[in-house]
Amino acid sequence: MPSTTANVAEPHPMMPKVNHDEIAEQMFVSDLKTFIGREIESGQAKLMNNKVIPAITRAKGAPPANHIEVRGAMEKEIDYQAWATLNRTAQEMMWDSVASCVDRQLDALIEKSDVKNPKGSLTLDPNFVVPRYIEAFDIHCMPGNYHAVTRPNDVRQGAVFDRAAAIYHMGRNGGFMNDIRGHTVVSHLFERWPGLSPKRILDIGCTVGHSTVAVAGYFPDAEVHAIDVGAGLLRYAWARAEHVGVGIHFSQQNAEATNFPDNHFDMVFSSAMLHETSHTALPRIMAECRRVLKPGGVVIHLEVPGHYSQLDTWGRIRGDYEIFYNNEPFWRGALSTDFKAKVAEAGFKDVRAGYQDATAKAVTGAAPAFRDKSKGVHQSWFIASGVK
Ligand SMILES: C[S@@+](CC[C@H](N)C(=O)[O-])C[C@H]1O[C@@H](n2cnc3c(N)ncnc32)[C@H](O)[C@@H]1O
Repeated sequence: MPSTTANVAEPHPMMPKVNHDEIAEQMFVSDLKTFIGREIESGQAKLMNNKVIPAITRAKGAPPANHIEVRGAMEKEIDYQAWATLNRTAQEMMWDSVASCVDRQLDALIEKSDVKNPKGSLTLDPNFVVPRYIEAFDIHCMPGNYHAVTRPNDVRQGAVFDRAAAIYHMGRNGGFMNDIRGHTVVSHLFERWPGLSPKRILDIGCTVGHSTVAVAGYFPDAEVHAIDVGAGLLRYAWARAEHVGVGIHFSQQNAEATNFPDNHFDMVFSSAMLHETSHTALPRIMAECRRVLKPGGVVIHLEVPGHYSQLDTWGRIRGDYEIFYNNEPFWRGALSTDFKAKVAEAGFKDVRAGYQDATAKAVTGAAPAFRDKSKGVHQSWFIASGVK
């Protein structure tokens, strides 16, 4: 039975507290994910190169045509099956361990989300229609996904996501604040447009505001807006931001068509959002970013690194795992997309794409950190940016 109400790893007041047994369970899952990623996954490329590809080559007298052929053969290997099964199981264990911890304190979290004298605001839309590409399945296998709502003033999905995100990233995105992507967006802004001090900022696909809060911290006088699709996610995000002293205006809106006026923002950004949108939605989102930006305003889209064209065979098979076993149906499509071309096609000028070094603190005048090549996952992030 849980024996304490120890407040371990609580970086802000909205973060669900953990008792002795819960932190033990969550740390176990985090270590298990690290072990699978480092120790077991590293064997898969060896299995592929030393056994599976030579066997295909011998059998047909020619090397495999593509990674899909190799993946088919890997799926018959017990080592691969064990890795994939363990990976999926650890992911499900992560959500289970966090959900039970959130559910026992959900009433208290909802009460804490009733922020008095907020600096920012929360605008929910009871008639909001969740886009089909979000609504159809639980992304990352998170039960209820980004949008489930179970009760009035719900914060459940936000609380589960916030607590689980650090385990998911194994601490590599800024520990429990998960804010390195936000700092990296600002680092890119400082490097490309050092003179720009945005007065109005919009984050599209903010989830619980991990990146929004980080970005807002650099521009205390700016009016910062953030949108997403889930009411419970957004209520949590708003309360979380207020509890860390940052006023952000959160609203439940589809990034394909928002209610913001034309020519309104100095900076619009997204962080790890585009790979979760459909092929049809992508150009609409790009066009909407341009519509709401002022002339001279900048768009910065941060994405996961690892374009399929730059991945080796194992990298592509690993990417496909996300599609089939982690409910990321657009993973290969998004990571094969030429985001630079998409931003340019939306009418932006001076468009550039590359990899920004991940940073926990953006500094003006820092050494250049925007490069052609990725340094790898969590070391750098892909960015496509441009000016209206
Ligand atoms: C991986 S999360 C983004 C994480 C967050 N930006 C950060 O840096 O911590 C992707 C988010 O995009 C949101 N999203 C996807 N399509 C959207 C759309 N059309 N409009 C608004 N939000 C959307 C999802 O609901 C989800 O919360």
